[in-house]
Amino acid sequence: MILHTIAEVREQIKEWKKQGLSVGLVPTMGALHAGHKSLIDKSVEKCDRTVVSVFVNPIQFGPSEDLDKYPRTLDADAEMCKNAGVDIVFAPSPKEMYGEGHIMSNDFLTYVIPPYFYVDKLCGKSRIGHFDGVCTVVNKLFNIVQPDFAFFGQKDAQQLIIIRKMVNDLNIPVEIISCPIVREESGLALSSRNKYLNPQEKEQALALSKILYNIKVCYDKGVTDTRALFETAYGFLTPAHSLEYLDFRDENDLEEKTVADDNTRVFIAVKIGNVRLIDNILLGEN
Ligand code: PAJ
Repeated sequence: MILHTIAEVREQIKEWKKQGLSVGLVPTMGALHAGHKSLIDKSVEKCDRTVVSVFVNPIQFGPSEDLDKYPRTLDADAEMCKNAGVDIVFAPSPKEMYGEGHIMSNDFLTYVIPPYFYVDKLCGKSRIGHFDGVCTVVNKLFNIVQPDFAFFGQKDAQQLIIIRKMVNDLNIPVEIISCPIVREESGLALSSRNKYLNPQEKEQALALSKILYNIKVCYDKGVTDTRALFETAYGFLTPAHSLEYLDFRDENDLEEKTVADDNTRVFIAVKIGNVRLIDNILLGEN
């Protein structure tokens, strides 16, 4: 069932709650792939009812980012959701979510803004305001769907950590479920933005996972100095790769690490042509 309005969703959720059914929410921006599907499968398995939101959220894109060309494939997304046992695909318009002039117009004024010192790292450093947009829309989706569980991927580990903090700080009655990264056999983490890559760029994109795996191998052999681990990346980078960051951070609070341990997550962002790709790995994971 595809619903486009908040009122329709609320009505259905009210019915389910009356029946005592648990509700899972999988927030997405569509162009669904096997990474999204892993979140959906988890929700369908765990919850009586599953809602997948498909909304390319304009307020989390910067002025020079890919909002207009972000892939929109609602028919295929709905088909995938149907086959996976999803109960509602919620696909609102920007107007439904933010009114006519969504950016700081009188139609929409209240944002959820995590403090700058907290988000000013990794993706938050170059994507100013991005996490304001993410927190605002996820908060709205939580209020609309009132899920018992919400599913997020470790692919966007910084997002997951910030959302957990928001839920905790604002006492939002939802349990956040963290789901592992789904990769192609080549190691490339699945992403809707992989669609932008030509075959040569796709080959070059393998550097991200290779760098992360190589760091993990070195760590497993006993190297813990993050500077030394950082330097192992150079062998994989070519002039085609513009490295935005390769950071070693604590899994829970995102503080920078100089000595790696099992709770260290290694984050990488690389631009290849015009496509910005991110990936990460937890050094303690098997
Ligand atoms: P989107 O990029 O569509 O991702 C939706 C969810 O799918 C996120 O939780 C993301 O981490 C997860 N995901 C994407 N690729 C994955 C992969 N390869 N393996 C596992 N999970 C993966 O993230 C967003 O949308 C938006 O910021 C959103 C939270 C919907 C707010 O607009």
